[in-house]
Amino acid sequence: MAKANSIFRNDDSELNPLCRPEAFSRMDETNDKGFYETDRFVSHLDSVALATVEHIISSLITEKNPVILDLMAGWDSHIPESVNASEVVGLGLNENELKQNKQLTRHVIHDLNQDPHLPFPDAAFDVVVNTVSVDYMTRPLAVFEEVGRILKPGGLFLVIFSNRMFPQKAVKVWQDSDENERVILVNDFFELSGAFEHTIRFASKGKPRPKDDKYAGQTPVSDPVYAVYAEKIGGAPKSKRPAITDDYGEKIAKSLLKEKEAAVKKTLRCPHCNEKMKKWQVPDNPFCQTWDNDFMYICFNDACSYFVRGWDRMYRETNQGMSYRLMYNPEKDRCLPIPVPTHLALKDGIIED
Ligand SMILES: C[S@@+](CC[C@H](N)C(=O)[O-])C[C@H]1O[C@@H](n2cnc3c(N)ncnc32)[C@H](O)[C@@H]1O
Repeated sequence: MAKANSIFRNDDSELNPLCRPEAFSRMDETNDKGFYETDRFVSHLDSVALATVEHIISSLITEKNPVILDLMAGWDSHIPESVNASEVVGLGLNENELKQNKQLTRHVIHDLNQDPHLPFPDAAFDVVVNTVSVDYMTRPLAVFEEVGRILKPGGLFLVIFSNRMFPQKAVKVWQDSDENERVILVNDFFELSGAFEHTIRFASKGKPRPKDDKYAGQTPVSDPVYAVYAEKIGGAPKSKRPAITDDYGEKIAKSLLKEKEAAVKKTLRCPHCNEKMKKWQVPDNPFCQTWDNDFMYICFNDACSYFVRGWDRMYRETNQGMSYRLMYNPEKDRCLPIPVPTHLALKDGIIED
């Protein structure tokens, strides 16, 4: 395997995880073609997350009849019909999956890890999409540079990922990173490649998992969806690409919210979702020392729009993987947010259901 230093030439400090010699090694170093020979007609994400992926793709592609490359494609490219692509080329390793992919107009079998050179001419594409696959690139910087070469100036490179993976084939630095660090890692690939400008990050997490999903019993939340994207240098001075606006359901009107908050004392129902709030013991820790109360009421509904929307809000404002729940202070008769890093946080303090 190539030494990481030869890939990332900007900084060979030991402190930079990208420069550690093992950063892009994998548990299974056998030929990728062999691993992907097995057909996998499976969904790599739950249906809520897949809808978010389609929403991201359709929000960001503003080109008319774009020519698109699906880089590391399988049997589904997640490109909605509304995009009206004139051509969608799929590059991947499994012939059967690519043949059955209805969105593709043609496909190419090519192993990026053996040869990061992309078999396409310069400026051939308007858009390159890479979905739930960036973690398998052993030479990401060379691939990102190549994507820069084959995109038209101002063309979009959109990298979307989640937290599932084939652990045998995901590179070590990905496995060693947490979800927020992975977003930064992909951001680094964009910036270190030198081919792109205005890298933007987006996260959608905390939406309720569909009830019929095979993992529904294990976790109440849908697979997170992260996107990092940028345009190839040299496009029109002011890009018209819109920001992604995620759909968290209707936001309650301010006047109605005020009314509902005023009623919490009597109803003990969350003003956002109407669920009964739970009595919660204030813990004896430094963060709660300034609260005089012994208990509060908290909305623990994982599907509450206030809580679900909070992941996105906190992500955009602090770049942290946190949200908040609605808490009611009965002594002060006030509703306020209490931050939570996970769905399980604070639940051990519930004293009355
Ligand atoms: C988890 S699947 C994702 C497939 C598809 N992008 C999707 O969103 O469903 C990973 C894909 O990466 C492709 N892939 C993995 N290693 C590759 C390599 N070295 N070169 C090219 N494609 C590769 C495989 O063919 C496989 O389809």
